[in-house]
Amino acid sequence: MTPGAETRRIIDGAAVAAGQRARIARAVAGLKKNGFAPGLATVLVGEDPASRVYVRNKIRACREAGIESTERAFPAAAQEREILDEIARLNRDPAVDGILVQLPLPASIDPDRVLAAVDPGKDVDGFHPENAGRLAAGRGDCLIPCTPQGCMILIESARPDLEGLDALVIGRSNIVGKPVAQLLLAAHCTVTIAHSRTRGLADRCRAADVVVAAAGRARMVQGEWIKPGATVIDVGINRIPAGNGRARLVGDVDFEAARARAGAITPVPGGVGPMTVACLLRNTVVAACRRRGVAPPET
Ligand code: GUN
Repeated sequence: MTPGAETRRIIDGAAVAAGQRARIARAVAGLKKNGFAPGLATVLVGEDPASRVYVRNKIRACREAGIESTERAFPAAAQEREILDEIARLNRDPAVDGILVQLPLPASIDPDRVLAAVDPGKDVDGFHPENAGRLAAGRGDCLIPCTPQGCMILIESARPDLEGLDALVIGRSNIVGKPVAQLLLAAHCTVTIAHSRTRGLADRCRAADVVVAAAGRARMVQGEWIKPGATVIDVGINRIPAGNGRARLVGDVDFEAARARAGAITPVPGGVGPMTVACLLRNTVVAACRRRGVAPPET
């Protein structure tokens, strides 16, 4: 038997996310009985088609969980000042518990200034420097970025005890690579962060018990790089030609080759993607409870 074959499985992110969303819907119903309804505001600037789809999915997920949502949409030519003024209004609005500014923003707008303008207590993306700093300091009172949080839930569903394992994070973005590295460190992994200038990536990967691929390059992680039995989390969402004039989605990992060696692996689509939305809902409930001095329910 191939090493790790006894535990080999595909991690069903869609199913894990559906379970979490159902628990959140029950928690929200309970909170509403006590007189408060969590609310999320989304801010979308420009017409990027993928961003529009993501925001639409987030709003639909809110509705299904009983979370109130409001959408602010601005044209690509909007001035940074308008966006900052809108965020200031949302910061003051007592009905808004969470504020999500969909990224990327148009090139004329400074994302750092915009993200820093969000009230850290309403920063359900966890992108404000105060939340990033608290996460890096290992503090529990931050809001944790949604995709990294989802990655950890999936990793721990396959491997509950991460203590002492070697983890490789491929990608160093503020949205995924850096925060997921912090979370793996907090779970007592020995963490390596690789990126486009890293030397010997294949060998680093062969030594890793946990691989989180978040580089944004289609199928860059080859099957034979995977240590037998490793847990592989694929954050990539890459559109490649499907041959019939259409496009199809693939991850950053060569899934078919990697699944033959991995102990557990996420597919694309249906792996990490659904978890991002589920964790956004969770963060909105957490933010709503903390703002009211109530202990957040387990979700
Ligand atoms: N763009 C890509 N991923 C994300 C995310 O998790 N949140 C936001 N706001 N924008 C993104």
